[in-house]
Amino acid sequence: MAWSFSRSSLYRLLFLVMSLASQRCYGFRTFGFDVHHRYSDPIKGILGVQDLPEKGSREYYVAMSHRDRIFRGRGLADGDRTVLTFDGGNKTYRLNSFGYLYYANVSVGTPALSFLVALDTGSDLFWLPCNCTSCVQSLQSENGQDIKLNIYGPDASSTSKKVLCNSTFCEQQTRCPSSDSGCPYQIQYLSNGTSSSGVLVEDVLHLITDDNQKKEDDARITLGCGQIQTGSFLSGAAPNGLLGLGMRSISVPSMLAREGLTSNSFSMCFGADGVGRIRFGDNGSSDQGKTPFNIRSSQPTYNISITQIIVGGNTAALEFYAIFDTGTSFTYLNGPAYTQITTSFDSLIKENRHSSGSGEDLPFEYCYELSSNQTKFEVPVLNLTMKGGDNYYVTDPLLMIYDGDVPAGYCLGIVKSDDVNIIGQNFMTGYSIAFDRDNMILGWKESNCYDDVPSNSSKSPTNKSHTPALAANPEDTSNQSNGPPIRNPSTFTFMAVLFPLLAIV
Ligand SMILES: *[C@@H]1O[C@H](CO)[C@@H](O)[C@H](O)[C@H]1NC(C)=O
Ligand SMILES: *[C@@H]1O[C@H](CO)[C@@H](O)[C@H](O)[C@H]1NC(C)=O
Ligand SMILES: *[C@@H]1O[C@H](CO)[C@@H](O)[C@H](O)[C@H]1NC(C)=O
Ligand SMILES: *[C@@H]1O[C@H](CO)[C@@H](O)[C@H](O)[C@H]1NC(C)=O
Ligand SMILES: *[C@@H]1O[C@H](CO)[C@@H](O)[C@H](O)[C@H]1NC(C)=O
Ligand SMILES: *[C@@H]1O[C@H](CO)[C@@H](O)[C@H](O)[C@H]1NC(C)=O
Ligand SMILES: *[C@@H]1O[C@H](CO)[C@@H](O)[C@H](O)[C@H]1NC(C)=O
Ligand SMILES: *[C@@H]1O[C@H](CO)[C@@H](O)[C@H](O)[C@H]1NC(C)=O
Ligand SMILES: *[C@@H]1O[C@H](CO)[C@@H](O)[C@H](O)[C@H]1NC(C)=O
Ligand SMILES: *[C@@H]1O[C@H](CO)[C@@H](O)[C@H](O)[C@H]1NC(C)=O
Ligand SMILES: *[C@@H]1O[C@H](CO)[C@@H](O)[C@H](O)[C@H]1NC(C)=O
Ligand SMILES: *[C@@H]1O[C@H](CO)[C@@H](O)[C@H](O)[C@H]1NC(C)=O
Repeated sequence: MAWSFSRSSLYRLLFLVMSLASQRCYGFRTFGFDVHHRYSDPIKGILGVQDLPEKGSREYYVAMSHRDRIFRGRGLADGDRTVLTFDGGNKTYRLNSFGYLYYANVSVGTPALSFLVALDTGSDLFWLPCNCTSCVQSLQSENGQDIKLNIYGPDASSTSKKVLCNSTFCEQQTRCPSSDSGCPYQIQYLSNGTSSSGVLVEDVLHLITDDNQKKEDDARITLGCGQIQTGSFLSGAAPNGLLGLGMRSISVPSMLAREGLTSNSFSMCFGADGVGRIRFGDNGSSDQGKTPFNIRSSQPTYNISITQIIVGGNTAALEFYAIFDTGTSFTYLNGPAYTQITTSFDSLIKENRHSSGSGEDLPFEYCYELSSNQTKFEVPVLNLTMKGGDNYYVTDPLLMIYDGDVPAGYCLGIVKSDDVNIIGQNFMTGYSIAFDRDNMILGWKESNCYDDVPSNSSKSPTNKSHTPALAANPEDTSNQSNGPPIRNPSTFTFMAVLFPLLAIV
C-alpha cells in the first residue's frame, strides 16, 4: 500500500531543496590541501619549538591547542571556565523547513546585523550571504508575505576588514589577482550541487557571557563574505548563512580559543522539543559519556569509533567510524553498520513495512504503517557502544509520518550511504554534547536543554513504546519525543548534508 498525501501547503516558508538522491560522488580523498602547515610553522617559529608531536597525531592536536593559548591567549588561567554564547542568547532552534538543522540568531559587524545561521560541526568556515550575486534575499511566508533577510556588507560595517591575499590566513594565494586583493574561498558540500564562494573578511562577532551577567565579549573573527551560493543554500538549507564549528583553525570555536576568550571546547544541546543550546568554552560534566576523537592528518573532523550495535536484545560487535555532524539532517550509514541496524530493527517490528509509492521521495528504506485506529506502537531500543565502552542510547531514531494531521506511519531515520558514516542531527536529540577539543574527546549527557534533567521517560532496556499524537505546528513538536514530524513524504528531500566535499579556504 502506498500512502496518499494531500499536497496542501504545509510549510510556513516555501522553498525547494535539492534532492538527496542516491548516486553521488563522495570525493573525500580530494580535499585540496594540508590544513596544518600554517599553524605549525608560525608557532614553531615564534615559540622556537621543534619538538611538536607528529603532525596530525592526537598528541599533536592536544599540543597545538595548548600552545595556541600560550601564544595568543589573554592568560586564560587553568580552571577558568568562561563560557560564552551569542549575544542573542544560548537558544538554538531546529527548523524543519530549513533542512532539519539547528539555527541560531547571531549578530555581526558595526552596526550589528543579525543572521539566522545553521550550526554545522561538519564544516569549518563561517560564511554569510554577502554582497551577493547569488543568494536568498527573502523568504516567502505561507500567506505570501515577503520576509527580508539581512545580507552582510563589508562596506556597511565599520569594523570590517579585508583579508588580503598576502595574509598567512589566505590559502588560495595562487588564485589571487594581486597581493592586495581580497582572499578568495570556495567550499563544496556533500548535498548535491551545494557550495558557497566569495572572499574572506574580518569583523566582530557579538558574544555575551553565558551567565546571569550576560557581559558583552566581542570576538574578532574571520568569516566568508559569501557572494555566490548554489544548491541547497538557494532552496532551503542555511538560507541566511552557515556557522562552521569544525576542528580546523578557521572555525569559530577555534578562533575563540586562539584569542583566549574561551577554552578550546564547546557544547550543543538538542532538545526533544527542537529547542537547543550552544555554549563556547564548555566541555561538559564529569558524569558524561565519553569517547576519543580519531584524528586524521589531513582533515580533522569529529570522527569517533563505534564498537558495538545493540538493537533491542540483539548485540553485534562491529567497529566503524562516524562523524558527529550537526549539519546533516539525518544519520547516514554505509554497508555493514547500515545493514546490521536496519535488519535487526526490521526483524523486531510488528507493523507492516511500507512499500514506497510513486511520487514519494523517501530516502529511508525502513518505514512502517500504522493502522488508523492504532494508538500505540513499540520499537526496539537502539544503543551504540562507543570506543572506550560508554553507551550511547539513541533517544529518538524515528520520524513520524503524517497524512495531514493524522499519524500514518514512522520511519527509521537512517539513510543508506555509499561512503561516509555520519551521525546526523536526529541522533543527537535528547543530549547535551560536548566537543572537547582540548582533550580530544566527545562527551554526551542526556538533557532536555532546560534544566539538565533528562526527560523522565520510563526506559525498558529493549523496547520503547510510542504514542503517536496528532501533528502540531511543523516548527513546534511540543515536548514529546517522537521525532520531527513529516507531513508529506516529498518533504524528505528537504534535507541537507553540509559536510565539505572540497574546501579551499
Ligand atoms: C544533481 O543536480 C543536478 C542539477 O543541479 C542534476 O542534474 C543531477 O541529477 C543531480 N544529481 C543527483 C544525484 O541528485
Ligand atoms: C535576532 O536578534 C535580534 C536582536 O539581536 C532581533 O532583533 C531579531 O529579531 C532576531 N531575529 C530572529 C529571527 O529571531
Ligand atoms: C542559557 O540557557 C540556560 C538554560 O539552560 C538559561 O538558564 C540561561 O539563562 C541562558 N543564558 C543566556 C545568556 O541566555
Ligand atoms: C561587491 O561585489 C562587486 C561585484 O559583484 C565588487 O565589484 C565589489 O567590490 C564588491 N564589494 C565588496 C565590498 O566586496
Ligand atoms: C600585504 O600587502 C599590503 C599592501 O600591499 C601591505 O600593507 C602588508 O604589509 C602586506 N602584509 C604582509 C603580511 O605581507
Ligand atoms: C574540561 O577540561 C579541563 C581542562 O582540560 C579538564 O580538567 C576537565 O576534566 C574537563 N572536563 C570534562 C568534563 O571533561
Ligand atoms: C575517521 O577516522 C578513521 C580512523 O582514523 C579514518 O580511517 C577515517 O577515514 C576517518 N573518516 C573521515 C571521514 O574522516
Ligand atoms: C483496528 O482496526 C482493525 C481493522 O482495520 C481491526 O482488525 C482491529 O481489531 C482494530 N483494533 C482496535 C484496537 O480497535
Ligand atoms: C519519574 O517517573 C517515575 C516513575 O515512572 C516517578 O515516580 C517520578 O516521580 C518521576 N519523576 C519526575 C520528576 O517526574
Ligand atoms: C540502552 O541504553 C539505555 C540508556 O542508557 C539503557 O537503559 C538500556 O539498558 C540499554 N539497553 C541495552 C540493551 O544495553
Ligand atoms: C520487546 O518487543 C519484542 C517484539 O515485539 C517482544 O517479543 C518482547 O517481549 C518485548 N520485550 C519487552 C521487555 O517488552
Ligand atoms: C518543554 O518543557 C520545559 C520544561 O521541561 C518547558 O520549560 C518548556 O516551555 C517546554 N517547551 C514547550 C515547547 O512546551
